[in-house]
Amino acid sequence: MEMKFTVLLVFLFASSVADYCEKAPFNTYKYCDYTQSIPERVNDLLSRMTILDKIPQLITSAPAIPSLDIPAYQWWSEGLHGVAGSPGVHFGGNFPNATSFPQVIGLGATFNMSLVLAMAQVISTEARAFANGGQAGLTYFAPNINIFRDPRWGRGQETPGEDPYLSSQYAANFVKGMQEGADDTRYLKTIATCKHYAAYDLENYLNLSRHTFNAIVSDQDFEETYFPAFRSCVEEGKVGSIMCSYNAVNGVPSCANDFINNEVARGKWGFEGYVVSDCGAISDIINSHKYTSNTDDTVAAGLRGGCDLNCGHFYSDHAQAAYDNGAITDDDIDRAMTRLFTYRMRLGMFDPPSMQPFRDYTNDKVDTKQHEALALDASRESIVLLQNNKDILPLSLTTHRKIALVGPHGQAQGAMQGNYKGTAPYLISPMQGLQDLGLSVTFAAGCTQVACPTIAGFSEVTKLVEEHSIEAIIAVIGLDESQESEGHDRTSLTLPGQQVQLLEDIKKKAVPGIPFIVVVMSGGPVDLSGVKDIADAILWAGYPGQSGGQAIAEVIYGKVNPSGRLPVTFYPASYINEIPYTNMSMRVPPGRSYKFYTGTPVFPFGFGLSYTTFEMKWKNPPNVTHLKTTHDVDVNYEVVVTNAGKRSGSVSVLAYITSTVPGAPMKELFGFQKIYLKPEQSMTLSFVAEPKVFTTVDKHGERKIRPGTYKITIGDTSDLKHTVFIRE
Ligand SMILES: *[C@@H]1O[C@H](CO)[C@@H](O)[C@H](O)[C@H]1NC(C)=O
Ligand SMILES: *[C@@H]1O[C@H](CO)[C@@H](O)[C@H](O)[C@H]1NC(C)=O
Ligand SMILES: *[C@@H]1O[C@H](CO)[C@@H](O)[C@H](O)[C@H]1NC(C)=O
Ligand SMILES: *[C@@H]1O[C@H](CO)[C@@H](O)[C@H](O)[C@H]1NC(C)=O
Ligand SMILES: *[C@@H]1O[C@H](CO)[C@@H](O)[C@H](O)[C@H]1NC(C)=O
Repeated sequence: MEMKFTVLLVFLFASSVADYCEKAPFNTYKYCDYTQSIPERVNDLLSRMTILDKIPQLITSAPAIPSLDIPAYQWWSEGLHGVAGSPGVHFGGNFPNATSFPQVIGLGATFNMSLVLAMAQVISTEARAFANGGQAGLTYFAPNINIFRDPRWGRGQETPGEDPYLSSQYAANFVKGMQEGADDTRYLKTIATCKHYAAYDLENYLNLSRHTFNAIVSDQDFEETYFPAFRSCVEEGKVGSIMCSYNAVNGVPSCANDFINNEVARGKWGFEGYVVSDCGAISDIINSHKYTSNTDDTVAAGLRGGCDLNCGHFYSDHAQAAYDNGAITDDDIDRAMTRLFTYRMRLGMFDPPSMQPFRDYTNDKVDTKQHEALALDASRESIVLLQNNKDILPLSLTTHRKIALVGPHGQAQGAMQGNYKGTAPYLISPMQGLQDLGLSVTFAAGCTQVACPTIAGFSEVTKLVEEHSIEAIIAVIGLDESQESEGHDRTSLTLPGQQVQLLEDIKKKAVPGIPFIVVVMSGGPVDLSGVKDIADAILWAGYPGQSGGQAIAEVIYGKVNPSGRLPVTFYPASYINEIPYTNMSMRVPPGRSYKFYTGTPVFPFGFGLSYTTFEMKWKNPPNVTHLKTTHDVDVNYEVVVTNAGKRSGSVSVLAYITSTVPGAPMKELFGFQKIYLKPEQSMTLSFVAEPKVFTTVDKHGERKIRPGTYKITIGDTSDLKHTVFIRE
């Protein structure tokens, strides 16, 4: 979505929320009569509309229909990790600012799906309060659940990572939190939009643009990798909306793609909502993809390809002519209109405000103490401890009081939000977080920009770290939107510019024996192999949100025991020279993601250290070892997890399966659970391997249980392994 929001805001906002069906008593018109069923009301409404009324409703800036008492509606609001800037969302005035959670890649790292659910409930609560104040819409273009297929992708930061199972769990929980919340399921709280469907994960790579890219996807990769999170959105989340993507899929632009939208999402998964185009994507069908050669055919391709709502104005500009010329029919328009107005009604728009459970939410539900606490908890849980030589961390509040804080992110504020952000109530920088612990902090950036083009500022840093009074050095480095963002992929996996040189210079000049801690903020993975040799400890913080600096300081000082795990593989820098970005195959050598990558990662998917140690053993040794391909019952694994160290902490226990079936992934995540344990405390976890866990997908996309030897692994250590033999 490329439009610049700020200019638009002025035009789109009324100061208070408009009501529908206000002029006449509710039962004057059947569509206003809340005692009737929604299908009947929608039919009645459409029967009162002319074609001239209908066509302008097919775009996201839908105008009012005064004769029917329908106000204008802006469908485009954003809420990826907090209510965010967009044509539908208006910050400012006396309205409170919206809680800003960590960027989604960090939420993936938490492996805590109750946290994701709780966050989405907060976002939808704040969204409703904004909407009631006339400051936002009720339809949100989130979550982004494309698989983080290639580490270069500029928007990988917006996703929960590279694993289809984790992404599916994220999708279902996010959608539930956005859409539910009412005791009465008659109403949707807000509508989530699962995007970008399908196989979207390239912005602009060496001038190859997402607007023209044609993703060639095999049936195997669809079933194994690109579809599962969307399927989970529909089947588990019951999502109201899906966004079709800019790219083409197997030669057909996504927004004109009958196969993915109608045959798969609607036909196979039972999707009942509406498909909205990414902004400008209908125009891309003709102007970028050149898939059609005239505007009539373009409108027809979009509407018949399953895209009901155009973010942009191609439909409103050209659908009338397409209709007049016979390229589209009343049925094509009514199908889209029925979906759109069904969901507007499900949001309660046509019902009396007094009936609607969320209409009394006011701005005292925005930026509450509980919301702030949840955003802080999310930051704490998202941080991943990657290296901790000689248990240098946590630092001590009594012996590490004088800190040299260095690096371009030492005073980071807005950068901690990543992209798709709103105006946060506050942004606690790393500097602030350390100072709030009562430490004496001296700051020297070295580079003020993450691009770090010169060493001009390094002498100030080296002078600082040479001081004998310094008790610890903390460098906060990494990426920001200048390196990875919408419309901008990376062309290198290394730290930008002279950042590694900065760390080397510090190491050379620092008083020997002083702890040197490196904190990396980034969305996409960075090759940290050089940093491993320089730093005593390394933390990856994603883009940690409004309380990011507090969470970082608390982890470094042991007030919080880190529990995040990497949601993406951290590849060596050479990886991108070996693998073609544009090849969508997960198996293209040297392989994509932990499931197929045959090289040695710098840090693997799922990696994350703790300040304590967790031990695991079977509760009952698994007793099922021989199964048949017709196997259709769950296999249960019961594991006792014990905190065997001296500090309380949380652990995410990950369960994988591997098999000898030819062509199967090297391993595959099938379950995870996160628990908090005090020292010596134990808990029993049960992992259920449903029959589906034992399936593999062949080249034709067929998923079934096949003969072979399967290994289940639970936890980090290899001591919880179980072998299952499957025969015909
Ligand atoms: C929201 O944040 C902006 C920018 O920091 C600030 O100017 C404004 O006062 C805040 N609004 C409220 C109501 O606190
Ligand atoms: C991309 O396009 C721009 C503008 O046309 C051009 O300046 C630049 O050299 C191109 N980059 C590559 C890698 O082809
Ligand atoms: C992607 O790579 C695979 C494996 O090397 C190859 O067979 C396939 O043709 C490639 N696909 C495209 C679209 O280039
Ligand atoms: C397998 O173990 C479970 C408990 O873990 C038990 O309920 C079940 O009866 C056992 N099955 C067999 C065949 O021993
Ligand atoms: C997961 O998140 C929830 C909601 O914030 C929190 O209550 C819980 O403690 C977290 N679980 C762990 C194990 O940290």
